[in-house]
Amino acid sequence: MSAEIWKQVDDYIVDSMVGVDKALKDAQAAAKAAGLPHIAVSAAQGKMLHLMAKSIGAKRILEVGTLGGYSAIWLARALPEDGKLITLEIDPRHAEVARKNIADAGLASKVEVKLGAGMDILPTLSGPLDFAFIDADKENNAGYFEHALRMSHKGSIIIVDNVVRDGKVVDPNGNSMVQGVRRLFEMASKEKRVSATAIQTVGDKGYDGFLMAVVL
Ligand SMILES: C[S@@+](CC[C@H](N)C(=O)[O-])C[C@H]1O[C@@H](n2cnc3c(N)ncnc32)[C@H](O)[C@@H]1O
Repeated sequence: MSAEIWKQVDDYIVDSMVGVDKALKDAQAAAKAAGLPHIAVSAAQGKMLHLMAKSIGAKRILEVGTLGGYSAIWLARALPEDGKLITLEIDPRHAEVARKNIADAGLASKVEVKLGAGMDILPTLSGPLDFAFIDADKENNAGYFEHALRMSHKGSIIIVDNVVRDGKVVDPNGNSMVQGVRRLFEMASKEKRVSATAIQTVGDKGYDGFLMAVVL
């Protein structure tokens, strides 16, 4: 098994059922042209987030870590007409590219990109939240999770990306990002208000995984 076959299968999945339209392709191209790092979710993952949010009829979504707005577009498309997505981004350049991509995708009225550090902005938000996608600096994962949980209600879903990190998550002496993921695992496992799991993924984005928590 190699990264090459994971990519081929991801391409097959995307070609056969994901449905990536021009707005999503343009958003990817604009992010690349602006020199943003290639760290957005894959198309198949974006569709999965979209379907999860849609499956619970999410009306209020929070994202931490906007980059060029790719996952925000997938998530915002799951919202009803009066739905709202707030997405937090620390890098002004990323936020600028994201705002344009989101507007070009026709979603400006549903999406607010807030510029600043997640841990500075989150205390100013009051929710409520139906769905949260955490995908920023891994060191603050536990803090982001705590805030998402504070604003959630029974049935809300919290997803955290990049929790496997090429398998490094099992290393108790891993780097600060691994430590951030491990603190999150510890918090989620002890937190009585959620039921959680994590799923390993391979594909276009290499070997990684998502944590999923449902609020009880
Ligand atoms: C993996 S990217 C997000 C990808 C995006 N969710 C997608 O899939 O299209 C992580 C983003 O988090 C941002 N970020 C890093 N630290 C942050 C912080 N403390 N607060 C808010 N955003 C942060 C980075 O600038 C980067 O744009």
